[in-house]
Amino acid sequence: MASSTHSYGFYVFMLMGIVISTMVATCAGNFHQDFDPTWGDNRAKIFQGGQLLSLSLDKVSGSGFKSKREYLFGRIDMQLKLVAGNSAGTVTAYYLSSQGPTHDEIDFEFLGNLSGDPYILHTNVFTQGRGNREQQFYLWFDPTRNFHTYSIIWKRQHIIFLVDNMPIRVFKNAESVGVPFPKNQPMRIYSSLWSADDWATRGGLVKTDWSKAPFTAYYRNFKATSISTGSSNPNSGAEYQTNALDAYGRRRLRWVQKYFMIYNYCNDLKRFPQGIPAECRN
Ligand SMILES: *[C@@H]1O[C@H](CO)[C@@H](O)[C@H](O)[C@H]1NC(C)=O
Repeated sequence: MASSTHSYGFYVFMLMGIVISTMVATCAGNFHQDFDPTWGDNRAKIFQGGQLLSLSLDKVSGSGFKSKREYLFGRIDMQLKLVAGNSAGTVTAYYLSSQGPTHDEIDFEFLGNLSGDPYILHTNVFTQGRGNREQQFYLWFDPTRNFHTYSIIWKRQHIIFLVDNMPIRVFKNAESVGVPFPKNQPMRIYSSLWSADDWATRGGLVKTDWSKAPFTAYYRNFKATSISTGSSNPNSGAEYQTNALDAYGRRRLRWVQKYFMIYNYCNDLKRFPQGIPAECRN
């Protein structure tokens, strides 16, 4: 008797465990469960039962949130709808970051603009506390009209930035030529909305128009997927070279980089008179 009661309890326990882990693996996240507002008081809001989050900015303050969990490798998807109308001077940052002076960071930053003028999508990768790896893009759609998906695929071999599943940037693991790669420090997901009108729009020429405040950005359909990271030796032969994108992905990356990239640190010879950074050469 005793033993059958015991095993019944055990099965229920197992079943619950399976149900819960399946939910975690497949459901889009719930903002109440996965994130905490970090600053800006009630300017960071979660609503629709945890399905929607908004950040807003007014003259007094911006706002931000961060993930409760830390992540080490994986694929992170989030849909964002950016500040509409005259968003000049506003910056919406959405990024992964570890902590401390030698932190790693993978950044998306959206620099607002006057109505009808294009946002700039700014990207960067920090490893061991060093960044200076900016690439900037215009988008092929108006990011304020609808939600679009911004994703980061983070593996030992590379980091891929995607917009609506379109690869826009690949940062390869270049440890073999002495460039540190983020692989030991888990990162949280952060986002914040603030005003940086000393530099954000046309290099600071266009200021934030506070008569249009509050400025609001929306987030939904967060999803974190763990991916098998494969071999721990990132440089193991041909696999590593071809793994990042297939032929179709490479074609799409070339299309984005040809028509939408507006700045690439790898081509900025003036900035690197001693020669371009090692990860850019190949
Ligand atoms: C804003 O619009 C101007 C004019 O089209 C453009 O030069 C600039 O790159 C745009 N983006 C930002 C963030 O300044």
